[in-house]
Amino acid sequence: MADDADRARAALAAARRVVFFTGAGVSAESGLATFRDAGGLWEGVRPERVATPEAFRKDPAFVWEFYLARRVAAARAMPNSAHRAIAAYAAGREVSVVTQNVDGLHQAAGAARVLELHGTLWRTRCGTCGVRREDRREEIAPLPPPCACGGALRPDIVWFGEALPPDVFGAAVCAARACEICAVVGTSAAVWPAAGIPTEAARAGARILVVNAEETEHAREADWYFEGRAGEILPGLLGFERS
Ligand code: OAD
Repeated sequence: MADDADRARAALAAARRVVFFTGAGVSAESGLATFRDAGGLWEGVRPERVATPEAFRKDPAFVWEFYLARRVAAARAMPNSAHRAIAAYAAGREVSVVTQNVDGLHQAAGAARVLELHGTLWRTRCGTCGVRREDRREEIAPLPPPCACGGALRPDIVWFGEALPPDVFGAAVCAARACEICAVVGTSAAVWPAAGIPTEAARAGARILVVNAEETEHAREADWYFEGRAGEILPGLLGFERS
């Protein structure tokens, strides 16, 4: 009799419309810290100090230094076998990668449709005029960098207390409502409204598959739950050997 992994593999092989909802855990095997695991980013610094508009108003240089350090780490990181398997699986299918990550590793692995719910490390936004620009510098002076309008440039990251970009969130909800399988990978799903994406998918009839290093709320409600590292488990489920 087929076991759970065989059934999930067969369902994924047959599915045409799939959403991957990912979080920091999918990049952990690329050497990037997660937020809430032991030794995670939120253990080193409280989010109120670096991830709120108030923190940026109070000490923009401190906030920028946190994100510059993350840029340096992300620039040196390579996509891992989970990122690569997701990108390869998408060929010939309608796949959306709805990610809470800001590191760009899904795109680096070749994923075509990546919806970044929490922004990206690789863009700045002016707090005054709103202009957005690609910016991959690892060293910036002065901090905060000035905008041509005289305002201060900030990382184009969604901070606590801020709304998600409505166009990106809207597209993610549409993809979730249209998919056959929603695969939730490497996320504590603790931050809303992003965490509601798998629920949107489930309500519209999708099956939910979770791959995570520890049990989460989504895992308890999932059709399939595989506990362990994404880079070890996901390639096999998606029909690839681990590479
Ligand atoms: P978290 O740090 O909250 O959760 C990461 C999850 O990944 C945990 O459940 C880990 O058990 C799991 N994990 C760790 N390594 C893994 C691996 N190799 N394979 C599979 N799972 C693994 O990170 P997120 O859920 O991404 O928001 O956090 C969500 C949001 O909270 C982030 O986008 C960020 C943060 O505050 C903002 O900055 C706005």
